[in-house]
Amino acid sequence: MDYYIAPAFLDKLAVHITKNFLDLPGVKVPLILGVHGRKGEGKTFQCELVFDRMKVEAIHISAGELESPDAGDSARLIRLRYREAAEIIKVRGRMAVLVINDIDAGAGRFDQGTQYTVNTQLVNATLMNIADHPTNVQLPGSYDSTPLPRIPIIVTGNDLSTLYAPLIRDGRMEKYYWVPTREDKIGIVRGIFAPDNISEREIVNLVDRFPDRAVDFFAAMRARIYDEQIRDFIHKVGLERLSIEVVNPASGIKPTFPKPYFTLARLIEFGNLLVQEQKSVDESRLVEEYNRVRYGAPPKSF
Ligand SMILES: Nc1ncnc2c1ncn2[C@@H]1O[C@H](COP(=O)(O)OP(=O)(O)OP(=O)(O)O)[C@@H](O)[C@H]1O
Ligand SMILES: [Mg+2]
Repeated sequence: MDYYIAPAFLDKLAVHITKNFLDLPGVKVPLILGVHGRKGEGKTFQCELVFDRMKVEAIHISAGELESPDAGDSARLIRLRYREAAEIIKVRGRMAVLVINDIDAGAGRFDQGTQYTVNTQLVNATLMNIADHPTNVQLPGSYDSTPLPRIPIIVTGNDLSTLYAPLIRDGRMEKYYWVPTREDKIGIVRGIFAPDNISEREIVNLVDRFPDRAVDFFAAMRARIYDEQIRDFIHKVGLERLSIEVVNPASGIKPTFPKPYFTLARLIEFGNLLVQEQKSVDESRLVEEYNRVRYGAPPKSF
């Protein structure tokens, strides 16, 4: 499927990656690119699209992996993956990058009052150290004197200001605030609905109907269109037989579903439902009520 990559996004990543593999005389290139912005706007997704397009190998670290209870493990993991990426360049003969998604979840503080843990300190310090000495990244307990190639590191996150400030300073990290323009959104939504025969006018209409929504809203909207067929299927098979029939059908053939037909009006209806559900989440805020005891104020009622 041909997904849309915003030109500005593609440009930023392509320049950052390439710059790190070139010998530019007298220029100090930051190793890390920090892509930040609102959730669900396509940072992670578009990074993958760019790597695909550029035929760049990407080695990933997820925020969860940085949360090891064993302080020191996560720092080792970063070094290990960095060296793996260096190996890939040698073996495959093409560029490689290291990607850390949602870095603020694994290495950031949640608010001013939260302390850095030893673990997050180590993650920040390791990344700083790699940014300063990208060709000399060693694993604990072994030393390899052959210089490594530079491996550009791309991190994504919502709020990079929660990271250790020296890590994000300009010499170490180039920052890119990603927010899609209306044109980008139209392009992305066109890509999402490409298989569905939705006209250009309807795409534009859809984007303008929900201007404040992130791009993942439109992806979620499309996922909804199969719900009706699935509901029919459930009724046809019967709830009691469903569990077996889906995983291990008697006929030996797994159920398939034809592409549903839907109209713009129907999509807008799905969209409004999604908006309503998000509103219920925002409005419920039960945690505030339940946590009142913890914060000192008396509970509202018992
Ligand atoms: N260019 C695109 N083309 C098609 N679909 C896209 C595109 N960008 C994003 N999407 C859809 O939006 C969803 C959310 O995007 P993504 O996970 O990249 O957001 P994010 O900015 O990384 O969010 P977060 O900050 O929460 O990690 C994707 O799973 C995908 O379905
Ligand atoms: Mg992401």
